[in-house]
Amino acid sequence: MASSVVNMHRNGLVIAIDGPSGAGKSTVAHLLAERLGYQQIDTGAMYRAVAFLIHQEGIDPDDLEALERFCSGIDIRLERLDGHQRVVANGQDVTRQIRTPEMSLMTSRISALGPVRQAMLQAQRRMGAQGGVVLEGRDIGTVVFPDAEVKFFLSASAQERGRRRYQELLAKGEQVTLEDTIQAVTSRDLQDSQRDLAPLRMAVDAIAIDSSDRTIEEVLDAMVAVCRNTSHADPDTSEHVSTPTNGNEP
Ligand code: DC
Repeated sequence: MASSVVNMHRNGLVIAIDGPSGAGKSTVAHLLAERLGYQQIDTGAMYRAVAFLIHQEGIDPDDLEALERFCSGIDIRLERLDGHQRVVANGQDVTRQIRTPEMSLMTSRISALGPVRQAMLQAQRRMGAQGGVVLEGRDIGTVVFPDAEVKFFLSASAQERGRRRYQELLAKGEQVTLEDTIQAVTSRDLQDSQRDLAPLRMAVDAIAIDSSDRTIEEVLDAMVAVCRNTSHADPDTSEHVSTPTNGNEP
């Protein structure tokens, strides 16, 4: 933990939640951000939005120059509307379109490319620079914010992660089988952890949490306890201040 490091995050902690797909990152990141009165930044949604645009614009992912030109002008926003996250890419609401199994696989592929990672790295650092944020992804604790005060690595067995993703897809009316979903989750993890740039990896100072046999509330309570025990230093006063909360003490 980097809790004793005096840093420049004014509005609160930078909390990193990394881990493979289906480990429950989005759910706990959302609840943790709510509990602490922080902003949630779903970096996977940002990569998905880029994949969507690349596909829509017909850009050849192998043409790195064209990709770089395109990515440098991209504008991805994460907005909250009626308690739900909306993903807006170059002014277009892509919230629903980015969640299909095809888009998941495509995102895993394009997120291995340098120009895409560079653009998202800069955007994510800008969004989280002031602190008071929960960022979830694959490389937050290792690359995007290696100085994050709190780092979690959330995992679960491949079987359990596949089962959860299957339930989500069924609820959305997708025609999928459990076997295919487990297979898709496993091959995406392999792709995400074997790429050269910012692969999925646990930071050496991250706290590992296995959510296979734990409820969301149990995982969340463990995370909240860690965050509440971590102070952040206000650079203006050099005083240690406690984590801001929205008053929902557990
Ligand atoms: O978290 P997710 O399933 O929505 O992420 C979609 C893909 O984006 C995932 O396969 C890997 C990629 N990703 C990444 O490379 N780095 C991140 N910080 C977040 C996601």
